[in-house]
Amino acid sequence: MKSSVLAPAPVPHHIAIVMDGNGRWATRRFLPRVAGHKFGVDALRRCVRSCAARGVAVLTVFAFSSENWNRPREEVSGLMELLVVALSREVPQLVKDGVCLRFVGERSGLSASVNAGLVRAEESTESNTRLRLNVCFNYGGRWDIAQAARRLAERGEEITEASLGAAMQMGDFPDPDLIIRTGGEQRISNFLLWQAAYSELYFSDKLWPDFDDEALDSALAAFRRRERRYGKTSEQILARSDSQQAA
Ligand code: FPP
Repeated sequence: MKSSVLAPAPVPHHIAIVMDGNGRWATRRFLPRVAGHKFGVDALRRCVRSCAARGVAVLTVFAFSSENWNRPREEVSGLMELLVVALSREVPQLVKDGVCLRFVGERSGLSASVNAGLVRAEESTESNTRLRLNVCFNYGGRWDIAQAARRLAERGEEITEASLGAAMQMGDFPDPDLIIRTGGEQRISNFLLWQAAYSELYFSDKLWPDFDDEALDSALAAFRRRERRYGKTSEQILARSDSQQAA
């Protein structure tokens, strides 16, 4: 007899994360906000390894938004320094772990030394295939849509959903299946606006430096309980699942 139980959703192919809460984590410990970002790098390292171990193929993280330039000057320069230091420290291990690193965002606003660091890190990891890590840096979802439209206009191409999607910064990757935001806020904050159309959203109260394997597994368990309908009805999804099981 055929079962009408939905096959459990697999591990998400692509997870995207808004790593929020570093500042509060530090302030609660009477530390400067930049210290929270340093612990945020530790949490990111753990998360990359855990995602790779669980079979996630693409991880995209929001490290610096187009709007983060409005933060206090010392925090902005602290984040830039942290990026350069973190890259020189982390890239050798990323190479060993098979992680391919790519930066997504507006490069022209970044200093020459930061840009050089990004290019070096991308070149050192470009042949890795186990996990793709997209770090959104000086990134905004509206900027991404605008740059895609500009590229199509420059090439004289027609603007369609398919052509615009392909011209987005991560147009060569499937959209995120799951978007996680830590830190208790429930908004998208100009992250992956185009790509989030059918992503499942998951909000965690954990501050990003505290986001551990247990928290990641809770997000994955919540994802498995979701029914992804893409505009269809539950009945259509069940019928499709039944016919797949019968085949
Ligand atoms: C948001 O927390 C976090 C950021 C703006 C930076 C995220 C960066 C990292 C996790 C480290 C990785 C960084 C690099 C440079 C690779 P928040 O500061 O807004 O926290 P709050 O909401 O508690 O103030």
